[in-house]
Amino acid sequence: MVVHNNFNNQTSYSSLQSLKNGKQRTILHSCLNQIWIIPCLITLLIAIACTSTLLFPNIHKILQIYNFTTTSESIRSSRTTESVDCNVFDGQWVEDNSRYPIYNSTNCPFAERGFSCFENGRKDKEYLRWQWKPKECEIPRFDAGKALEMLRGKRVVFVGDSLSRTQWESWICMLMEGVKKKESVYEINGSEITKTIRHLGVKFRDHNITVDFYRSVFLMKKDYKLPAGAPKKVRMIVRLDQVDDISDQWVDSDLLVFNTGGWWTQNRLFNEMRCFFQIGDSLEFGMSVIDGYKMALNTWADWAEANINPNRTVVFFRTIESTHWRGPNQCDVSQQPLNETKGKDKSEKSDIIMEVLEKKMKRVPVKVMHLTPMGSYRSDAHVGNWGDNPSMQDCGHWCLPGLPDIWNEILLSYFLPKMSSFSSN
Ligand SMILES: *[C@@H]1O[C@H](CO)[C@@H](O)[C@H](O)[C@H]1NC(C)=O
Ligand SMILES: *[C@@H]1O[C@H](CO)[C@@H](O)[C@H](O)[C@H]1NC(C)=O
Ligand SMILES: *[C@@H]1O[C@H](CO)[C@@H](O)[C@H](O)[C@H]1NC(C)=O
Ligand SMILES: *[C@@H]1O[C@H](CO)[C@@H](O)[C@H](O)[C@H]1NC(C)=O
Ligand SMILES: *[C@@H]1O[C@H](CO)[C@@H](O)[C@H](O)[C@H]1NC(C)=O
Ligand SMILES: *[C@@H]1O[C@H](CO)[C@@H](O)[C@H](O)[C@H]1NC(C)=O
Repeated sequence: MVVHNNFNNQTSYSSLQSLKNGKQRTILHSCLNQIWIIPCLITLLIAIACTSTLLFPNIHKILQIYNFTTTSESIRSSRTTESVDCNVFDGQWVEDNSRYPIYNSTNCPFAERGFSCFENGRKDKEYLRWQWKPKECEIPRFDAGKALEMLRGKRVVFVGDSLSRTQWESWICMLMEGVKKKESVYEINGSEITKTIRHLGVKFRDHNITVDFYRSVFLMKKDYKLPAGAPKKVRMIVRLDQVDDISDQWVDSDLLVFNTGGWWTQNRLFNEMRCFFQIGDSLEFGMSVIDGYKMALNTWADWAEANINPNRTVVFFRTIESTHWRGPNQCDVSQQPLNETKGKDKSEKSDIIMEVLEKKMKRVPVKVMHLTPMGSYRSDAHVGNWGDNPSMQDCGHWCLPGLPDIWNEILLSYFLPKMSSFSSN
């Protein structure tokens, strides 16, 4: 437990701040100056009592969390008896000035430039103030020291598209807040983060933690080798009946987080990439993108059932992120979250993910991170004009620090501590 300093500084700093700014100081001050000591002391005691109920979550919530630290059985049962468990993804955004940002992207070499909005000139900071408040439970505040201990000796793997890369970057930056020697956290081969790199692996040397990212935007096998007689318009194929050929590198891990979605559009696949679906030896020109997506998820589910060891690996699958485009390459990043989601809290692909996994996963429990509703309000949290190319707006990706930190806080502070393979450390 050598790594707590950063975090402790942070907490003691913020409690000092609240003491400075809060009523306690003024009351104390007047107590010392006046003769009304007894009424003053009573007021002070009441003020302290009020503050501590704010600082410590109520006993009921502690019990609720404590109750759940059983076995991996709990992951399994939470899939079927969701109503007993709190649905952490059903909630609302509330203002909070003390939790975020968790880190400063300028000081985190793993936050890529394209997502580091502050460095790219974003001045307003309101988008960093919002906390996700589930209806029926609390998300405990992220504690980098505790998270590092929980992950000691573990391998964490993110697989998917650029939104998985953002989550991977956020994860590393959050954990680095608890690391004193920043140079003890490094990419194994010294590789730079790029938009197309296939594999990145970051090691936290002193805690023996590895955090990998594998780019696999469809999760399926992609190939430039075409079946005989393929028409000219086909440049590449995506197999709907075979997962990505690097999938064997994912399974030997303690935590696996998947996503796929953004690349499954007619325009991106069939027009831009000239990429078409293939099943077995045959090209499937008649199949809709949504049917292709459904088939791919079924293939993924079969692969996961056959290859993942549920005694070792905890698996999460993220649903679709809301985007907030106004038109092609055009968007307005708002100052505040939206008050209504205008239907963006629903997504056909998210429904497919939940449906397929619910139906297919038997041996291997997969927890769905249903992020669609929570992101749908956050038109304020996108990269907008503050990416790596100022002439291109971006209302698909999110700023770092920012919303992806909250996905990770949900994993690191809410889900993982309840799971036996992580809580036993
Ligand atoms: C804790 O678990 C027991 C038995 O499973 C249950 O009766 C009780 O309501 C639970 N308490 C809380 C706070 O969830
Ligand atoms: C982050 O740190 C840098 C350098 O230490 C500092 O210049 C910058 O103001 C900080 N950013 C924020 C948002 O506080
Ligand atoms: C680091 O963790 C791996 C498992 O991820 C384990 O095999 C290895 O023995 C650990 N190394 C040390 C030095 O503890
Ligand atoms: C590092 O390079 C080795 C050798 O080329 C390769 O096998 C390995 O996958 C790379 N690791 C990462 C994290 O990219
Ligand atoms: C998982 O653990 C259970 C109970 O300990 C055991 O019966 C089962 O064989 C294990 N499965 C694997 C794949 O190791
Ligand atoms: C949402 O509602 C609040 C309070 O009614 C208002 O102050 C705020 O401007 C609204 N936000 C948006 C984005 O419309």
